[in-house]
Amino acid sequence: MSVLRPELFKNCVAIVTGGGTGIGRAITYELLTLGAKVVIASRSAEKLQIAVDEFAKVGSGNITSIPCNIRKENEVRSLISETLKRHGKIDFLVNNGGGQFLSPAADMTLKGWNAVIETNLTGTYLMMRETYTQWMRDNGGAIVNIIADMWRGFPMMSHTGAARAAVLNLTKSVSVEWAQDGVRVNCVAPGVIQSPTAAANYNVDVFEEAKKRLPSWRTGRPDEVSGAVCFLLSPAARFISGTCLNIDAAGSLYSPLFHNVDEHDKLPEYKWIPDPPKQSKL
Ligand code: ADE
Repeated sequence: MSVLRPELFKNCVAIVTGGGTGIGRAITYELLTLGAKVVIASRSAEKLQIAVDEFAKVGSGNITSIPCNIRKENEVRSLISETLKRHGKIDFLVNNGGGQFLSPAADMTLKGWNAVIETNLTGTYLMMRETYTQWMRDNGGAIVNIIADMWRGFPMMSHTGAARAAVLNLTKSVSVEWAQDGVRVNCVAPGVIQSPTAAANYNVDVFEEAKKRLPSWRTGRPDEVSGAVCFLLSPAARFISGTCLNIDAAGSLYSPLFHNVDEHDKLPEYKWIPDPPKQSKL
């Protein structure tokens, strides 16, 4: 379900990394409901297959998957070439796949640090480079990179904060370099978004605690991010490139130093939008 026009993306082809779970899953679902053919990619073939089966059950037959470790140059190359073989083009790339873990910066091992930088920064770079050189340089397209609310640093997840800030800068660079080829590149920075995948990543209920510290007094939903992603991919955003849309209901601006937002329910979820099919626990 989407607020955008039905069939807006009919005949369009999209790749969504991490498209089987969490925010990526909501992006996949919204693209499918708008008529796009979607290739989801991540490391786990098992998770991918579960998502493909779940979407097939609700009649979204336009989804296929390709297992890919985005840290590996050869795997990224084949993901793009295989997608082109399968569908003949790539209109949209959504770089959503990533990962991190909670740790003070001082306690990280080099291996842990490198893993997060390689997935979130290098993986995104490789995906953009291969999509551009194999297809978008000659045919145009739109790219959205999912980053994070790292605007005031990212204490306890400094590796991902550094990687996501770098992705924003990379986005700005290539949005200029690739403008002449009709390629738009933007970022979306989600605030605190609740999903089964995000919950499984932390051993404390970060969401209950977080909502008291947000001006919205609630956490966000994955489908509140996917709407922004689809907007940026759509023709409505044809003059938007090199920028970042924060999906956080002003969470990243909030500091209760002089002004406290008392509990309220004035930014409700839009309940009239039906939920996407439930994500199985994995
Ligand atoms: N999601 C998390 N880590 C990933 C990786 N290395 N490749 C693809 N998707 C991922």
